[in-house]
Parts: sequence; structure tokens; C-alpha cells
Amino acid sequence: MESYLPPMQGITKGIRQGRNVLEGYQRGWGLQFGGLMERIEKDPLHREAAAAAGDLGILSQHNRMNIFLIMRFFLHKIPFGHIVEYGSYRGGSAIFMAYVAQQLYPGMKVFALDTFEGMPVTDKNVDAHNAGDFADADLGRLKARIDRLKLDNLVLVKGLFEDTNDAVMAEAGKVSLAHIDCDIAPAVRYSYEGVKPFMVDGGYIVFDDATYSSCIGATEVVEDIVIRRDGRNSEQIWPHFVFRAFAERA
Ligand SMILES: C[S@@+](CC[C@H](N)C(=O)[O-])C[C@H]1O[C@@H](n2cnc3c(N)ncnc32)[C@H](O)[C@@H]1O
Repeated sequence: MESYLPPMQGITKGIRQGRNVLEGYQRGWGLQFGGLMERIEKDPLHREAAAAAGDLGILSQHNRMNIFLIMRFFLHKIPFGHIVEYGSYRGGSAIFMAYVAQQLYPGMKVFALDTFEGMPVTDKNVDAHNAGDFADADLGRLKARIDRLKLDNLVLVKGLFEDTNDAVMAEAGKVSLAHIDCDIAPAVRYSYEGVKPFMVDGGYIVFDDATYSSCIGATEVVEDIVIRRDGRNSEQIWPHFVFRAFAERA
């Protein structure tokens, strides 16, 4: 399908300080001010993926659409890698991404990591969430839905990230999109550090919740580690933080 992204005429093409400014504008400005939501809603692939996820997902519509745009129009421009989601809860966002991946990228898997039993211990210096939040995920219902949808590219990985990440990275090898949606400082920090060495050149690292009022712990990790320590500039700050894993910071 032809691109329906806004052209953003006049913006310089290419990489600037480790991200693609033009592409960030196309998605962020397009969604916020450029009528892109209406175009996406008319896209049959978006409709089908949203229907597949049903009521299982809790991403905001903007956030989910931004992931859709990345997958639809940008992922094919970078080297092949799999998708890893840190924090899947009832599985709606994982199903959504797996559906789109199955249609567009043969062989691409979505690894969906979660305890599926709720949050572990949180850092009460900075996290509003508490241990046990999101404990009502229903793994049986999720597996049944995945089978019904024949999403054989979706791999559910149950357990703490700290216990499962090594095996996932050994199987995945390369990651093109990391969706970090686990809300709390220790888990966001672990996810970022755990996936970083496996990102393909130009891979997308998306933080779902670091700009949410309820997740200052996630914000702190982005500020302290991603921005200050690793010196990354974001490609988008709206509707969520998107960073690129370029080897060279041209
Ligand atoms: C906001 S929910 C994910 C929502 C989901 N991506 C969606 O859009 O529907 C956050 C999830 O992170 C999980 N989580 C947080 N820290 C974790 C850790 N260290 N290991 C495994 N799961 C963790 C919680 O169990 C919770 O289900």
C-alpha cells in the first residue's frame, strides 16, 4: 500500500544526533495535527489488527497507532530483527503487533514477556505502582485467542524479565523493535539494558509509559540512562518516547 504519511516538506532528510527527525515528524505531527488518525482508521490492516486484539489491550489509541505506523512504513527500511515487548499484561498490544508482523514481515516473531501474574516489587522512591498491580491477566484466555487467530509468530514468555531475557535474546538474536511497557523503574531499566546490545542498526526502542503522569519511575530511567548516560536524543516524545539504536550518531 502507498504511504499516506505527511511529506513534511522542507525538513532535512537523514540522521541528526542519532535519530531521524523527518520520520519522527511524519508520525508524531501527522497523528497529532495532520489528520493521520483518520487515514489509519481507514487502513484495513489496522482495522484487522485492532479487531484481533479486541478488548485485551490497554494502550492508548495514539500509542497503538504510532506502533502501527512504525511497523507499516518504517520497519522494512532497517535490518531484519524480531519484536520484543516488555510488559504484555492481557496480551492486547502483543496480539496487535503479531497480527501486523504476520501480514508484513514473514519470519518475524513477537516475544511477549510478562509475569502474567502482576507487577513485582516496585521502587517506592519513584514508582506509583505497587507489587501485584495487573495481577488479573488471564494466560489461558490469551493462549486460546492466539490459537484461534493462528498467530504462530507470537511467543508468550512467562516470568520475570530478569529470569527470561537471556533465553529470549539467545533465540531472537536481533531485535528491530523493543516495546517497553512495564511502568516501573526497575523493570524499565532492566528492559532497556537487556535489549540494547541486541538492537539492529536503527532499531526502534519505544517507551510506552515514560510520559505518563502515573509512571515517573519510567520517566526517570529515560532521563538518567537513555538521555544523560547514553546521550540519545528522541525521535518522538509524543505520543510516546521513541529512540533509535543507531551505531553511528551522525
Ligand atoms: C501496563 S502493563 C502492560 C500493558 C500491555 N502492554 C498492553 O498494552 O495491554 C505492565 C505489565 O508489566 C509487567 N511487569 C512489570 N515488571 C515486570 C518484570 N520485572 N517482569 C515481568 N513482567 C513485569 C506487569 O506484570 C504488567 O502486566
